[in-house]
Amino acid sequence: MKEYVLLTGGMGFIGSHTAVCLLKAGVNVVIADDLSNSSASVLDGVEAITGVRPPFVRCDCADRTAVDRVFDTYPVSAVIHFAGYKAVGESVEKPLAYYRNNLNCLLTVLDAMRDHGVNTLVFSSSATVYGEGTGRPFTESSPTGGCTNPYGQTKLMAEQILKDLCRADARFTAVLLRYFNPVGADESGLIGETPRGVPNNLMPYVMQVADGRLPHLRVYGNDYPTPDGTGVRDYIHISDLASGHLAALTWASSHPGCHAFNLGTGTGTSVLELVHTFERVNGVAVPRVVEGRRSGDTAVCLADPSLANRVLGWRAERTLEDMCRDAWRWEKKQNEGTAHE
Ligand code: UD1
Repeated sequence: MKEYVLLTGGMGFIGSHTAVCLLKAGVNVVIADDLSNSSASVLDGVEAITGVRPPFVRCDCADRTAVDRVFDTYPVSAVIHFAGYKAVGESVEKPLAYYRNNLNCLLTVLDAMRDHGVNTLVFSSSATVYGEGTGRPFTESSPTGGCTNPYGQTKLMAEQILKDLCRADARFTAVLLRYFNPVGADESGLIGETPRGVPNNLMPYVMQVADGRLPHLRVYGNDYPTPDGTGVRDYIHISDLASGHLAALTWASSHPGCHAFNLGTGTGTSVLELVHTFERVNGVAVPRVVEGRRSGDTAVCLADPSLANRVLGWRAERTLEDMCRDAWRWEKKQNEGTAHE
């Protein structure tokens, strides 16, 4: 019988690139997404890249009846759970919406998995679970907690729920993938990130400045204890992040229990380094002004990815140049109207 991996939130930025990676590897995929922060046309992009149009069910993952229907229709062998709200600033303004949506979606999917005998879950977590840290690379055993916003708290709570579940049910596997800063787009330029409104994250903001939609980048602080004073992050190409899910999924089925892995490159890049690379690789100007620090930001956030390298046999391969080039290719195609948002 044909079995499927269910991608909740599979139409979003990370979900759609993971769908492409899995489909290219011959894995059957079914996508469930409420399209609250994505568009159905993403499927056209996924199909154009892979030659496969995966089944898509428009559904709210907190709706038990709708989720059950997905499991009843498709024989699901494992779930990758991406569905969730992800805007840090919005989560501060609407904490209840974030706690309700992100936790209800996870709990509903877990209930449906239990009732359908599905025991393998890969979860979209985030480096945000580590809180502020010391500036040294985070390992999976670095302390967690101290998140400054409800979005981060929902990731931390979800990790706790999955740890408790694995303790109670020896057959269950939960792989917590702690993402660092995903950027870029599929090299085809046919799928990518489509932030709603004015972007908060650096790369989408840089692109809207480069194409003239926004006047200048605001560099949030140049007085951090970093080589050029601007914030240092571990940017990872979205296609490398996606292949981390395939590696995790392959490994998960034979490793019950709850396991966390960092998905990052281990290389730090400052705001100004990213901007300079973007300008050089793409031959465009990114005007900028330095402003004060953004509240909640830290100087440095870096992954130690060695556990995923060693255990999952996964490694990020693409360079900062690739990230800048592929992101810009997607942005240009969108402006030409040839991409699939
Ligand atoms: C943010 C979230 C994090 C989330 C991640 C998703 C916060 C505090 N953290 O991480 O929880 O998982 O996005 O990718 O919001 N910067 C500018 N100007 C801008 C935008 C950003 O200078 O217009 C700087 C920031 O100060 C930071 C770096 O660029 O040093 C990266 O910022 P961003 O892309 O927003 O990611 P994070 O803050 O690391």
